[in-house]
Amino acid sequence: MHDHQSPILWQDNGVPVSARFDDPYFSLTDGLAETRHVFLAGNGLPGRFRAGFHIAELGFGTGLNLLAALIAWRTAGAPGRLRFTSFEAYPMPPEDMARALAAFPEASAAAAPLLSAWRAGGRRVDTADLSAEIIIGDARKTLPHWQGRADAWFLDGFSPARNPELWEPGLMAEVARHTAPGGTAATYTAAGAVRRGLAGAGFEVTRLPGFGRKRHMTAAQAPK
Ligand SMILES: C[S@@+](CC[C@H](N)C(=O)[O-])C[C@H]1O[C@@H](n2cnc3c(N)ncnc32)[C@H](O)[C@@H]1O
Repeated sequence: MHDHQSPILWQDNGVPVSARFDDPYFSLTDGLAETRHVFLAGNGLPGRFRAGFHIAELGFGTGLNLLAALIAWRTAGAPGRLRFTSFEAYPMPPEDMARALAAFPEASAAAAPLLSAWRAGGRRVDTADLSAEIIIGDARKTLPHWQGRADAWFLDGFSPARNPELWEPGLMAEVARHTAPGGTAATYTAAGAVRRGLAGAGFEVTRLPGFGRKRHMTAAQAPK
């Protein structure tokens, strides 16, 4: 079990850094604001929320993106349950997850069902307004077998230089294959290789202003 976990280093500002990938889990400036800019606005959310809307994610990490999406879902008064499926190879120990989320009171306030499931070793969170599943394993192996299709993808691997396996063209093709017609994907990176991978997979790729010090990010849309 231990070799599947990712040792965490903590910066003074409370940001967790993966020792395995030598990269932070979220923005050093403000992880929640970055999530809202990149993954929510980058996918046209909350405006596209509707009953049964399905988000999928590469890289579950601390669960911050899930909680940001859930908060947006609630704030928008979206009907029914948000569906969220995330792919994670190295699940974070629950005590690290709780510590990381504690830096964001808004996210922490919504985190109890996730944390109690995680502490029990569970990988599903089912509540009145959320149906979430975290699929453990290398996304390159697990995504091809997934039966779902997402309306919006959060592509949130560590940086392409440090975590190239989560940005491979073959994996971007699987993302496209698991996207509903007209569905979208967004990521904080504007790396050329990622943009080309998404375009090669059939997405229409757009460059948008990035968050904080990052000049650009990437948004992508599947054919309708
Ligand atoms: C930047 S972090 C994700 C942050 C996360 N979205 C959050 O809200 O905290 C990247 C994640 O990708 C995971 N990861 C790296 N390589 C992977 C792979 N091949 N398959 C699945 N997950 C992977 C890492 O373990 C890490 O949790």
